Amino acid sequence: MPEVARTEPGEVRWCGELRAWLVAGHEPVVRALRSADYVAAPGGSRNLQGMDGAEHARCRALIAGGFSAGAVAALVPSVGVQVAAALDRAEPGGTFDVMRELAWPVAMGAMCRVLGIPASAAPALTGWTQEVAAAMGSPPTPAVPLVLERVDGLLSRLVAERRGGLIGSLAGRLDDQAVVTMARLLLFAGSHPTALAIGNACLALVQHPALLGRVRRQPGLLAAAIEESLRLETVIQVGTPRRAARAASLCGHRIREDDHVLPLYGRANRDASRFAHPDRLDVTRARRPHLAFGWGRHACPAPGLARLLLRVSIARLLDRFPRLELAAAPELVDSPVTRGPRLLPLRT
Ligand code: HEM
Repeated sequence: MPEVARTEPGEVRWCGELRAWLVAGHEPVVRALRSADYVAAPGGSRNLQGMDGAEHARCRALIAGGFSAGAVAALVPSVGVQVAAALDRAEPGGTFDVMRELAWPVAMGAMCRVLGIPASAAPALTGWTQEVAAAMGSPPTPAVPLVLERVDGLLSRLVAERRGGLIGSLAGRLDDQAVVTMARLLLFAGSHPTALAIGNACLALVQHPALLGRVRRQPGLLAAAIEESLRLETVIQVGTPRRAARAASLCGHRIREDDHVLPLYGRANRDASRFAHPDRLDVTRARRPHLAFGWGRHACPAPGLARLLLRVSIARLLDRFPRLELAAAPELVDSPVTRGPRLLPLRT
């Protein structure tokens, strides 16, 4: 999507190639996504992201308990154990690929625990999720349907067994196929962005040694550093398309009924009318909500869990290794819609 890269932060413009409005301003994204004028665009999958109205609200309510403040707090000990186990694999003075050794195991481990998937399935699920993610934003490779079949096969068995976790609590309240669809979405939507966000935050810190030193001296700044990396290196650069359910006006533009609207979260998070010096990683800037978790009815249901995984991973990494630096250039995910490292080798 080269048109996305060419869109300036703050802009709202029609893109003939994508046949959609590209919305790259913070205020226009917020306005569009909280308005009832825009609904899920047809053509997507029949999961939460493709639903609207009462059906969407009901399904969101069914999963909300899994990501409540209490549920997230209850996960703290297991996340600590998972992060410690990952860091135990790193030799002081050696090289450590943050993505393979820390970010993915922590993100997928948490998803398995929340959903009630045995931890032994996490390595295979990680490989499958990475294959699906690699095909995002481009035509699917023949391997993708096969991978999805395997994931669904594993999830169907768990649904039939009525084990614990969110899968267990959804079983019986939705039909079995709907539970598989929901679990698959949560697995992919939960693990991939979280792994990339952990990588982005680590990378931002090692690329700014003065800031890294400050965060080590004042651990209270870590939360602000994480928020800034979420904003600046927005993992989900482009949201799912919305459709105008009726003719509407958006910041002076006339949107026709059925026009598609694409929220460009990454560009809008660098909108200078919202964030002064938007390209600067500034841990002292006044907290203003960013769009890294989306906005409105389809906003991420689990920012609290994501923030916990980020905070524990980064805090423990810094505690364990007092001299962290890049061991080699990171490799970034090659996608117009997601942003983050594929490989992040650090010297510990
Ligand atoms: C740092 C990590 C994460 C980031 C940056 C992130 C970002 C986002 C964004 C931007 C959206 C809205 C997409 C759109 O407008 O099209 C979204 C939706 C969603 N996210 Fe997250 N997310 C993260 C972690 C998680 C986790 C941990 C889970 C669950 C376990 C999760 C589950 C979902 C689901 C199910 C949706 C669709 C919601 C709906 O359509 O109603 N995400 N996320």
